[in-house]
Amino acid sequence: MPRCHDFLIWFMDMGLATCQPWGMSITRFAPALLAALVLSACSPWTSPQTGRNLYAQNCVACHGSDGQGGAQMPDLTMIAARAGGVYPQARVLDKLDGYARGQVAYEGVEMPNFGDLLTGRLDRVDLPGGRSRLLPEKIIALDAYLRSIQR
Ligand code: HEC
Repeated sequence: MPRCHDFLIWFMDMGLATCQPWGMSITRFAPALLAALVLSACSPWTSPQTGRNLYAQNCVACHGSDGQGGAQMPDLTMIAARAGGVYPQARVLDKLDGYARGQVAYEGVEMPNFGDLLTGRLDRVDLPGGRSRLLPEKIIALDAYLRSIQR
């Protein structure tokens, strides 16, 4: 569930906004309760935060700690901007799971394959256009993180 994080923030906002007139105790507890409910429906393994950790372990060497790339390394905070403003999720997922191996977007070095990222549980991702794909959770988390850093 790639959008859980957004959902959580939205829910907490809602909780704070709507619970105000009901009194202090609800104001205090409702957002926490809602957050717990939403969290129980989310997998922490696919959250942008998990993706950030995976990024730190596997990607900073080439794409930089801030994702802004370098000489021959693409700036990962500008993926959406380069694609005309819409984050090309299906293409990024292909790149991450190695499916797009050989389809080099930039001249120069090709991105390595990360066999380890393909291990672990699978989860279903909803893609734009009503399609969905079953993918390893680490790939989903990295995609969620990359989406969160677009400029
Ligand atoms: C050895 C250097 C290297 C490492 C490590 C690396 N990349 Fe890359 N990456 C590249 C290069 C070079 C390209 C551009 C060529 C290509 O598209 O394959 C690229 C392209 C990409 C693209 C496509 C960008 C676009 O606009 O289409 C994404 C997404 C990406 N990398 C994400 C990652 C993630 C996430 C990790 C860590 C799991 C990672 N990369 C690790 C070198 C690397």
